[in-house]
Amino acid sequence: MRTSKKHIVALTGAGISQESGLRTFRDSQNGLWEGYRIEDVATPEAWRTNPELVLDFYNMRRRQAADAQPNHAHITLAQLEKYFKVTVITQNVDALHETAGSSVVIHLHGELTKARSTINPDYVIEIEGTELTIGETCPEGGQLRPHIVWFGEAVPLIEHAADLVRLCDILLIVGTSLVVYPAASLIQFIRPAVPIFVIDPMPPSVSSDNPLNFFVGKASEQMDKVFEQLLEFHK
Ligand code: OAD
Repeated sequence: MRTSKKHIVALTGAGISQESGLRTFRDSQNGLWEGYRIEDVATPEAWRTNPELVLDFYNMRRRQAADAQPNHAHITLAQLEKYFKVTVITQNVDALHETAGSSVVIHLHGELTKARSTINPDYVIEIEGTELTIGETCPEGGQLRPHIVWFGEAVPLIEHAADLVRLCDILLIVGTSLVVYPAASLIQFIRPAVPIFVIDPMPPSVSSDNPLNFFVGKASEQMDKVFEQLLEFHK
């Protein structure tokens, strides 16, 4: 019997929330993401030129996320905590991992349910309901913005995430195309021989000398197979 549990890091992306009804980023058609151009709604420049449009975009995504439920993949991932120490490092801004019961979730790209001050980045609050509007300010009077990492902005949690990947015993990659950096670079930090499990209907190319296990299919279908295989490591 092991004294301490083995540590799984699960790196997740939009694909794990796809079966909960939330669109993936790659689903976006001809550069339109949910009908908006990224440069119009998800960049600091967009915020400077048209904050109302940016707030509308995230209000719409917050309404969608509020109606979404965790799917079997989120739930199965949370259940791994019975046998393993599990850290979820997600690029998703929905709260489906937490709702499914995952107890350690790191949101590299921020969280839809939170807002932060534009003059004091340490002032972060939970948004009441789903709407954030112009005129809602922090105590010092700064307009509140979505607590989301926009394209071109730094990813404050990336170093912390890399430290966790360095320490893990198993890396599980679910529902990410691994095309957005620096999140996609995390795979480089695993120790030699740490096994990698990838779940995706269209698996991303993963270049690693580590043992690679691809499970081609939807997360809710493949997570059970991965769960069984991971229990082999548990013994
Ligand atoms: P993508 O849309 O780029 O990739 C989604 C991945 O999930 C693809 O590889 C799909 O094949 C896969 N997929 C789709 N349906 C699936 C399912 N049912 N089960 C399992 N996998 C499925 O989304 P991300 O890689 O998460 O960043 O994109 C990363 C970042 O790009 C997002 O966080 C966002 C976007 O820019 C910001 O908002 C800053």
